[in-house]
Amino acid sequence: MKEKLEQIERMAREEIETALAHNGNRSEIIENLRVKFLGKKGELTAVLRGMGSLSAEERPQIGQLANEVRSKVEQLIDKAKKDAEEFELNEKLRTEELDVTMPGKRRIAGKLHPLTQIANEMIDIFIGLGFQIADGPEVEYDYYNFEMLNIPKDHPARDTQDTFYINDNIVLRTQTSPVQVRVMEKTKPPIRVISPGRVYRSDAVDATHSPLFNQMEGLVVDKGITMADLKGTLELFAKRLYGENAKIRLRPHHFPFTEPSAEVDVCCFSCGGKGCRLCKGEGWIEILGAGMVHPKVLAGCGIDPEIYSGFAFGMGIERVVMRRFNINDLRLYYENDVRFLKQF
Ligand code: DAH
Repeated sequence: MKEKLEQIERMAREEIETALAHNGNRSEIIENLRVKFLGKKGELTAVLRGMGSLSAEERPQIGQLANEVRSKVEQLIDKAKKDAEEFELNEKLRTEELDVTMPGKRRIAGKLHPLTQIANEMIDIFIGLGFQIADGPEVEYDYYNFEMLNIPKDHPARDTQDTFYINDNIVLRTQTSPVQVRVMEKTKPPIRVISPGRVYRSDAVDATHSPLFNQMEGLVVDKGITMADLKGTLELFAKRLYGENAKIRLRPHHFPFTEPSAEVDVCCFSCGGKGCRLCKGEGWIEILGAGMVHPKVLAGCGIDPEIYSGFAFGMGIERVVMRRFNINDLRLYYENDVRFLKQF
């Protein structure tokens, strides 16, 4: 039995040495050796089990020797394990070397759609002037989209806006102007709101028409609001959006919900007013409709037109962006061709 114990010690020593010369996973091999020599079913345990057959004098001697062998083998294995782990760490550091001077991989970040970018800019300009944002439904009652805006059922102005009807009383809104009515019904003046959003018209698609497009409505109601306030506000807006040299002009027009009404042009920023291809030789480009809110519309919403007055405007966001970036075809906005979108 004594020999057997000495043999176990020798074998453990040899096998650990071999393991430490191994190139593979050293610590795993060492762990297996620990199980083999010291584990519950290991060689040393097997010898200790046989001690029952020893005589009373032999038992303490062999017992002591067995304990010595166990602690020696344990020490060997602990040390071998540390060596193995150190070796493996160094291997890892050597093979996984990182070259921090290598060029990085560029991450291609997405961007906001040009319509969204400029719409945000427009919103910021008006927020800076003290406006709040109002929202309204895209599926709208005929009542708000037309009737409350002084466009009764048989009014010729309906023909100029090819409407998608859901039924006799419900439409896809053809303009953001119904939000004016919804706001005035609920709010006492002073009112200062803008309302950007989608509108729908049954138009065939071409370079300047789309059945879906975006507008931004503006409405100001208070005591003593005049056409001069409208002009001043829009002038400031144009300068902020197109640069300090931007000029605007108001042309008389007609909208059923404003009196007087105007169409507003900006001086062509491509040619500065001389006339070019972009402005079709005119020197001016129309960007919006506007006017003083019709007394009938104010009264319909419970606002006394003898006390209050207001101005309103509605602009096509696609147009404003077209003019800002020199885009000549509306369809480009909706096709989402990355070659187009990448430019903004
Ligand atoms: N809603 C009109 C349109 O879609 C634009 C417009 C004109 C809005 C005059 C207004 C306004 O608020 O006062 O063509």
